[in-house]
Amino acid sequence: MGFFSKDIKTMDDLFVHTLRDIYYAEKQILQTLPEMVEKSNDPQLKQAFRSHLAETKQQVGRLDQVFRLHGQEPSGVDCPAIDGIIDEAEDVAGEIDDVSVLDAALIAAAQAVEHYEMTRYGSLIAWAKQLGRPDCAELLQKNLDEEKAADKKLTALAESKINQRAA
Ligand SMILES: [Fe+2]
Ligand SMILES: [Fe+2]
Repeated sequence: MGFFSKDIKTMDDLFVHTLRDIYYAEKQILQTLPEMVEKSNDPQLKQAFRSHLAETKQQVGRLDQVFRLHGQEPSGVDCPAIDGIIDEAEDVAGEIDDVSVLDAALIAAAQAVEHYEMTRYGSLIAWAKQLGRPDCAELLQKNLDEEKAADKKLTALAESKINQRAA
């Protein structure tokens, strides 16, 4: 997107731009999740990250489908927001020695990611419906449902044991 030209003119342009934003974000997350699996200590947390990694691969596949249904080649656009969330998580994790405190920090970072994804999918679903693309909305809804479930699972893990262990 140029600084001097306004490339997003219609709701359709905005939909495609935001689709590219979440596509880039999902791919960054795909690269980061193996590190979270590696760094986490609690076996259930490790497993939660591992299964969300598998889900994230499928989510990228659904986004590919949404692009194609909408007559666009799948492509990403830089998303400084997700880069910032991931950078901050890496900085904080680098400052922590205690494994239980690290688990709590990894959950918090992952939940920041999930909530970012949820806002993007929420907007995309609403716009897809408005643009007369229920087919795209349905695929995006599957991704949103998985993000919500991942977020819930992380909350349950944090509240059931990890936060107490770290305290
Ligand atoms: Fe995702
Ligand atoms: Fe996610």
